[in-house]
Order: sequence, then structure tokens, then C-alpha cells
Amino acid sequence: MSVHSSVHLEKKPLRFDDEVRFIRSWIEKPLSTGAVIPSGKVLARTMARYVDTSATGPVIELGPGTGPVTEALIEHGVDPARLVLVEFNPVFCRMLRDKFPAATVLQGNAYSLRRALGDGLAEPAAAVVSGLPLVTKPMITRLRLLTDAFAMMAHGGPFIQFTYAVLPPIPTDFNGVAAEASDLVWMNLPPARVWVYRHR
Ligand SMILES: C[S@@+](CC[C@H](N)C(=O)[O-])C[C@H]1O[C@@H](n2cnc3c(N)ncnc32)[C@H](O)[C@@H]1O
Repeated sequence: MSVHSSVHLEKKPLRFDDEVRFIRSWIEKPLSTGAVIPSGKVLARTMARYVDTSATGPVIELGPGTGPVTEALIEHGVDPARLVLVEFNPVFCRMLRDKFPAATVLQGNAYSLRRALGDGLAEPAAAVVSGLPLVTKPMITRLRLLTDAFAMMAHGGPFIQFTYAVLPPIPTDFNGVAAEASDLVWMNLPPARVWVYRHR
């Protein structure tokens, strides 16, 4: 067996294992898991592309799950040591610590962002990337999260959120906020769109 084929064979079950754990988590907690399977590569890359790798400071990811967007961020050029991953599910936290040993993995509630970040950030964040199932939360909770995220970022830093919903997860006419959307990512189950919000 060649080196290449053995690497290929070793990698596949890992991805399958991610999916099995994700589906299990969805069966146990459908509302907080928010999806049946992890995001696909195209959606993860679409999210990562909105992060400006030349901007300094940590990159905060909310609800990283099994880490497909985390992988895309690293592929995009974000140093793993800059990643702060806030995940509620302790099983996913263990997986994330194994996969991304240089990243900071915090087990906590991303909707209480200040508390989840503990001592806070040494410098303003470059971006906040969210895989949270935001649309399952009341609008007031979504807006509070966005406001907290803006307070942690350098001015104009992006809050990046994907959604399966047709409507934007946060209204595009929210005062003082500029919003932009990606094309619909069809190569995802289900198809999704990425929304980016910046403080004007
Ligand atoms: C739709 S999944 C997205 C997972 C991953 N980002 C992806 O794209 O495949 C939502 C993730 O958010 C996590 N989550 C849900 N509520 C959370 C909360 N309040 N704080 C932190 N993570 C949360 C879930 O455990 C799950 O991993």
C-alpha cells in the first residue's frame, strides 16, 4: 500500500466520526446543535474568506462544532494560535482540543460572550465567526450578541454568520450596521448563505 492511499484511508473514518458525533448531538439537542450534519467545505470556505488575514488580533469562532469552519480559517491563513473557539458542547470541545492544540478552546455559552471569554481579550479581535443557530433565538438575544461582538472587535471588524433561513438572521436595516450577503451556497446540505455585519 502506498503512503498516499494509507493516509487517505486513515483520514476518511475521522470525517465520518465527526458526522456521527454531530448527528448524535442533534438527536440529543436539536435546537442548540441547529444542523443535522457539519457544514460542508464550500460553506466553510465562504465564511473564512470574509476574514482579513492581515488584520491583527484574535479570531473568535462561536459554535465551532466539530471544526469544519475552524479548518477553513486555518487553510485561509489564520494562525491557529489566534483562534479562540467558544463551544457549548463538551464532547465537541474535547474534539476541538485534539484537532487544534494551538487554539484556545473555551467551553461556554456564546450568547454570554463576555462571561465565556473570562478574562477578556488582550487586544481587539480581528473577526467573529459564528456557526450558532442564531435564528432559534429571540431577536433581542441576536442583537445583544452582535453588539457584544462589535464591542470586542476593532472598528469595522466583521461578524460572520451563516444561515439556512431565507431571511437574514439580523435585520439589514439595524441602526449603525452595514450588512452584506454571499450568494447562496448550493453545495451544502441544506443550502446556506453567509451574512456579514460590520459596525459603521
Ligand atoms: C449549526 S452547528 C454549527 C457547527 C459548525 N460551526 C459547523 O459549521 O458545522 C451549531 C454549533 O453551535 C453550538 N452551540 C449552540 N449553542 C451554543 C451556545 N450557546 N454557545 C456555544 N456554542 C453553542 C452547537 O453545540 C453546535 O456545535
